[in-house]
Amino acid sequence: MKELLEKLVGVFGPTGREEKVARTIEEEIAPYVDDIRRDSVGNLIAFKKGSGGKKIMLAAHMDEIGVVVSHIDENGFCRVKPVGYVLTATLVGSRVKFENGAIGVFWAEDPDWKLWQRPTTLPDWDKWFLDVGATSKEDSPVKVGDFAAFYPVFHDLGNRLVAQSFDDRAGCAVLVEVAKQVKNPVNDIYFVFTIQEEIGLKGAIVSAYNVSPDIGIAVDVTLTGDVPKAYPMAVSLGKGAAIKVADSEMIAHVGVRNALVKTAEENGIPYQMEVLAGGSTDAAAIQLSKGGVPTGAVSIPSRYVHTKAEMVDFRDVEASVELLKAFVSKPVEL
Ligand code: CO
Ligand code: ZN
Repeated sequence: MKELLEKLVGVFGPTGREEKVARTIEEEIAPYVDDIRRDSVGNLIAFKKGSGGKKIMLAAHMDEIGVVVSHIDENGFCRVKPVGYVLTATLVGSRVKFENGAIGVFWAEDPDWKLWQRPTTLPDWDKWFLDVGATSKEDSPVKVGDFAAFYPVFHDLGNRLVAQSFDDRAGCAVLVEVAKQVKNPVNDIYFVFTIQEEIGLKGAIVSAYNVSPDIGIAVDVTLTGDVPKAYPMAVSLGKGAAIKVADSEMIAHVGVRNALVKTAEENGIPYQMEVLAGGSTDAAAIQLSKGGVPTGAVSIPSRYVHTKAEMVDFRDVEASVELLKAFVSKPVEL
């Protein structure tokens, strides 16, 4: 499964440009599902028929944070608008990669911001520019409207893995793996790979409406409290799949949450309870779809979320696969 993770984090897919991710996932998952389709906005929806249980929607978002070129000056420097929550603290000397392979390097124009004086503040977004190796508008390899994501990386540190887009390619990999491994489930399973989560759960809003599930579960990363002087949070790398209790946009349906806990305990799958102070997932949109959907979330703990080096523990990824596999296979009572 590490190969699948490495493959998925390497695919170009900033928010708004998820086509390549959808194509890659479609190839991986198609042999294992009964139906697969793309909806009108680009969500990828794979379906596996059950023997007569509930309709369960599992959702993971395909997009990763990135930037879009908004202006190119006469010397070829690009101004960009972030897509998703890109922290300026991650930009110094960062590289981004465009769909056509062009590379951009970030720097900021602020004359008061001098590296040799050890700056304590960071310039605002409008001061940052991308150097794409051009000397003019004419010889620039990119155009206004082109999207880029952080330069793709993948490092295997043993149990710990590092990549720029585990948010949420780790979740996508979990769904693909569940689809591959589940045999004769009782429930109908919809594996939904959503677009544009990072700018407001767009893909989840429309796909949940169309799928109209009995139960929704988002699979995404969550933060941890296990680094020096971290904000207190009872989630750590390597301690198992995180079952969401609440985050800043939702409270998980207590029946779904309890069913996930019961499944983990009955199958000896390591898990931890997640209460996230800031941030949310596609689950917040699924929950409010149509007349309301009992919804929960399974989270993969990750350090350094929304940086160029997000870190997860492979064992937590595997635990998430095991938990969801067991959950969707058997009858669910809420
Ligand atoms: Co995110
Ligand atoms: Zn995410």
